[in-house]
Parts: sequence; C-alpha cells; structure tokens
Amino acid sequence: RKKVILDVDTGVDDALAIMLAVTSGQLDILGITTVSGNVSLDQATENTCKILQLLGVSAGIPVYRGASKPLRREEHFEHRVHGKDGLGGALADMTVSKQAEAEAAADFMIRQVMEHSGEVTLIMTAPLTNLAEALAKCPELIDHTAEVIVMGGVVKGFGNITPTAEYNMYVDPEAAKQVLAAGFKRLTLVGLDVTRQALLSEQDIARLNHPVIAEYVETSTADYRQRYFERNGVQACALHDPLAVGVALNRDFVTVQDFYVDVETRSELCDGQTVCDFQNRLNRPQNVSVCLEVDAPAFLDCFIHSLNQEPKK
Ligand code: BDR
Ligand code: CA
Repeated sequence: RKKVILDVDTGVDDALAIMLAVTSGQLDILGITTVSGNVSLDQATENTCKILQLLGVSAGIPVYRGASKPLRREEHFEHRVHGKDGLGGALADMTVSKQAEAEAAADFMIRQVMEHSGEVTLIMTAPLTNLAEALAKCPELIDHTAEVIVMGGVVKGFGNITPTAEYNMYVDPEAAKQVLAAGFKRLTLVGLDVTRQALLSEQDIARLNHPVIAEYVETSTADYRQRYFERNGVQACALHDPLAVGVALNRDFVTVQDFYVDVETRSELCDGQTVCDFQNRLNRPQNVSVCLEVDAPAFLDCFIHSLNQEPKK
C-alpha cells in the first residue's frame, strides 16, 4: 500500500477526502496533519478527530497539529461555505475523545519522509503552510518525497475566492510559491479545472449504502451543495479534496501535462493566482504536473464504492 500523509484544514470536502482515503483500503495513512484554513487550526484538528472517530479508525491514525496562521498573512476562514464548525453541523453532538499528538505537523512530515525515503506521498488539501515550514527546516525533503499531490489552483478557469485565485493558493500564496518552486521530483496540481468536474449530486448520494456514512454525507454536504448551486447553477458540489486522494489512488483518473507554474504574491487583484506557462514563454524548467482532464464518472464510482465499504485501518 502506498504510504501517504494527508494535510488538511478539515472542512466538508477535506472530511470526504479523509473518508475516501480510509475506506479505499489502498493507502497506508501514516498520519494526518492539520492547518488553519477553512476553519481555525483547533477546529480543523477537532473535525479531523471526529471524522476518524466516525469511521472507527481513530486508534490507528495519528493526528498532528500544524500552523495556526499562514506564513505572512491573516487567516481567511470559509464559514459561509463549510458552516460554522466546518462540517456543515453534521457532527455537532459528537464528543471528541481522540487527541492530537504532541509532535508538530512539520516535524512529523520530515520524520516520516526521511525514515521512508522515496516512499511517502504527501496529499495536500489545504493552504500549504505546513509543507513550507517543513521545507524551511529540512530542504532535503524534496529528494526524499515520492510525490506531492496538491489540491489547489486553477490554470484555465476562474477562481473560487477571488476572480483569479483558488482558495488554498490564495490563503497562503507565499507558502504555495515556495512549495511549487522547491524542486520536488513530482508535484501534481489537482486544481479547479478538474475538481469542478468531479461533482457529487443528490443521485450519487443516494448510491451510498453504509448507514452511518450515507447519513453523514447527506447532512454535512446539504448547505455546501446549496452554496455550490448559488455560485455555479449546478445541483451538486465539487469533490475538490477527494479528487486529490483519487489521484493518489489511481492516476488514470486524470490527464496531466508538465508546465512551469508559479503563484502570484504581489498583486492587488491577482494574489494567489496560479500562473501556468502553457507556451513556455518564460523558458523556465517544468516544475508541476498539471491535471487538465478528469474521468469524472470513473472517479465518482471509486468514491461511492469506497465509501460503501466497512472502514478499517
Ligand atoms: C479548496 O478550498 C477549500 O475550501 C476546500 O476545502 C478545498 O481544499 C477548494 O478550492
Ligand atoms: Ca481543504
């Protein structure tokens, strides 16, 4: 099984990404690291613990707290999209018994990547603050990480937080810029170009048959789907973060092409924009494998099939 670390700011779709990673049974989840993003670091950590408890795997998957703020900017929570608690209120009554470990997220990443050199895939579904911190402490990470899969950015379409920027890139653009420029052997960008095609509809939810999981998905995504409808006119919601896990599970879900990609950090209108040099006008080395197309039905089948399995660690 592929060794992975998930880095999350657990809102509604991060939670679904964790669920896919666990229920697929195909990933060895070394741990989950949390960061400030959709919600505060405390809330993201609590939500992550709750999801692991719901899945009954909280004993087997450790959680590590990371950065409580972006590198240089203030937080930018997304309560309007993910709800006050980040999970659409779905687990409001659950008591949290699981606690995060004492080790910091960046240290955990470094330790695991160095211990299992060449074997660990980092699946990042949040602002990239934790990985930027890890790189600052241990630049050699780039040679020892198997792959970094980032849910973030948009290369052809429009943004979802500003006209040009995707949320994870926008919240900590300095961190994103550092991670993209670091020189990882393989860095795959799963951006809005593809995640906006990976849509979860009411009909898909009706295919879920695990009683606990089906009810959770229905409840937690209710407002999230409504928000998506208001913005996009589609009765569904995008599985942004789960698709990053999907790419780790099966790269054939997407079509990728390598380009030079950078992140804007000094613009009034375009901060956080991912700039993809399609025609190699800057003549810089390609640093990112960009997902340009997705086989959405195949990914959706995998998502539904996995969530219908009994979770085990
Ligand atoms: C990304 O932004 C967050 O709100 C989601 O959790 C996802 O990681 C989508 O742009
Ligand atoms: Ca996220």
